[in-house]
Amino acid sequence: RKDILGLEDMSVDDIRHILHTAKVMKEILMRPIKKLPTLKGKSVVNVFYEASTRTRTSFEMAAKVLGADTTSIAIAQSSVSKGESLYDTAKTIQAMRADLVILRHPSSGSAKFLADILDPGVINAGDGQHEHPTQALLDIFTMEEKLGALDGKNVVIVGDVLHSRVARSNAWGLQKLGVNVTLVGPPTLLPVEMEGLGVKMTHDLNGALPGADVVMALRLQLERQKSGLFPSLREYSQLYGLTTDRLKKTGKESIVLHPGPMNRGVEISDDVADGVQALIEKQVTNGVAIRMALIYLLIGGSSNVVA
Ligand code: CP
Repeated sequence: RKDILGLEDMSVDDIRHILHTAKVMKEILMRPIKKLPTLKGKSVVNVFYEASTRTRTSFEMAAKVLGADTTSIAIAQSSVSKGESLYDTAKTIQAMRADLVILRHPSSGSAKFLADILDPGVINAGDGQHEHPTQALLDIFTMEEKLGALDGKNVVIVGDVLHSRVARSNAWGLQKLGVNVTLVGPPTLLPVEMEGLGVKMTHDLNGALPGADVVMALRLQLERQKSGLFPSLREYSQLYGLTTDRLKKTGKESIVLHPGPMNRGVEISDDVADGVQALIEKQVTNGVAIRMALIYLLIGGSSNVVA
């Protein structure tokens, strides 16, 4: 495999292999001295057309731990601002002999477009409303770390499903591992087309929570709302905000995930975000391990991870 574009087309064996490799990578990451020469001489280029803190930084850190060189193109200061196309930008990066391109772009399908025209590998770091595979892999890794095998577990994903590439990638990946996935949100943010994912869908969060092993709150993507938000922020947080009282409805010590960045007080209250059931910072740490695994598997060739 040259590229990582999404979980819809990824086999269970590939998902398992990535999760297993990430476990080894996490052990390396947690060491006091964590620099390896494994990918010395390889170069990884981050091309982010949208803002990012977690994904971009963790890709950089992951590549550096493995000894690769990393460069991030600052899109606002690049020739994109002079009208250069994604195609020409990518071809330019290829001509500089990059080994791996990490792309975040507002258009669904942009990562596949690049993968089809470039010789170096491409990792999709979020393409429009389509997929965010590395986020879903780190979410799955975090769930397994806490809960063990996920087969038969119940995962509730609540919020702005309409705009969420995180929800789509998780729905594909989790179902492949035998998880019962329920998507929850107001009718305006939970489109009927999502039924094609094969998941359960409901507008009633309180009704969906009993028995949930995992509750994942999604960010309300205010920047992608085309017209006035309905329901309003106040109504949204009353109906779909994750609070301590609401979390008790699961009837279990469920774990709480959020991909970040969070709108505190909207989709998640402070006490839940900072509470013992939340694994949000663990998700971030595991994100580095997952990205180390993916970079290693794509460009590590025959090199062994040096223990
Ligand atoms: N979860 C996520 O993709 O976060 P960033 O936008 O900060 O990368």
